[in-house]
Amino acid sequence: MRPIIIANWKMNLGYRDSLKLAEDLVRAIPEAELYKKDVVVCPSASSLLIVAEMFKKHHIVMGAQDVFWREQGAFTGCESPKFLWEAGCRLAIIGHSERRQNLQETDAMVNQKIKAALVAGLAPILCVGETYEERAAGKTDNVIMGQTIKALSGIQLLANEQLVVAYEPVWVIGSGRPIEPEEAEHASRIIYQTLLDLFPLTIVQNNIRIVYGGSIDGSTVSDFTGLEYFGGFLVGGASLHAEEFASIIKQTE
Ligand code: 13P
Repeated sequence: MRPIIIANWKMNLGYRDSLKLAEDLVRAIPEAELYKKDVVVCPSASSLLIVAEMFKKHHIVMGAQDVFWREQGAFTGCESPKFLWEAGCRLAIIGHSERRQNLQETDAMVNQKIKAALVAGLAPILCVGETYEERAAGKTDNVIMGQTIKALSGIQLLANEQLVVAYEPVWVIGSGRPIEPEEAEHASRIIYQTLLDLFPLTIVQNNIRIVYGGSIDGSTVSDFTGLEYFGGFLVGGASLHAEEFASIIKQTE
């Protein structure tokens, strides 16, 4: 499958800065890279329309940072997957650890959001990963297996649907130092095996990509590009700098 590199701008940029970074990205990322790789940018909800306008004539794809599990109705402040699709999103990050921690998002909510995203035509980017305490207690495998199973319970992917599973060890996010590649590779193998228990082999091979996220930048990305089950990256801090993000894209095989 094509590698996928996803920028998660988180809540870092307002409207003007989002537009500026989108312009810089269009300049910094060579067209040739976009023919070989899927490049996705997930801005804040308030900047989606302006970023979509900027990317219209380019092959950079836009994603949302979250979705709600209902399509429409009296749900103040929530973002409808259907409306996000209308705004130009084609993927949506779901179950990011920052939402699990700050907003008490549960696996059951994540599961509902994934179902709703798929109905709306958005490819979910499911985030899983252990906390420092869980790792210290030797629970990493169980945590990522459990999160994956619960998030994907009752879901059947159709041949035209895509899913991304992002392994993001919570304790390295924003730390400036990624996890050891061997440890990430072990986690990706656990995720891959779990996916094989949930979906037919052809779907796992053709419709699902596993990516790594957590303090990846232009200087560390090459340590992760050769790993067997990873098909790309979910990038936070380093995606806020056009040249740095472009460098990650260029180095991803
Ligand atoms: P950093 O790359 O800033 O560690 O963030 C990773 C992340 O949370 C992406 O979703």
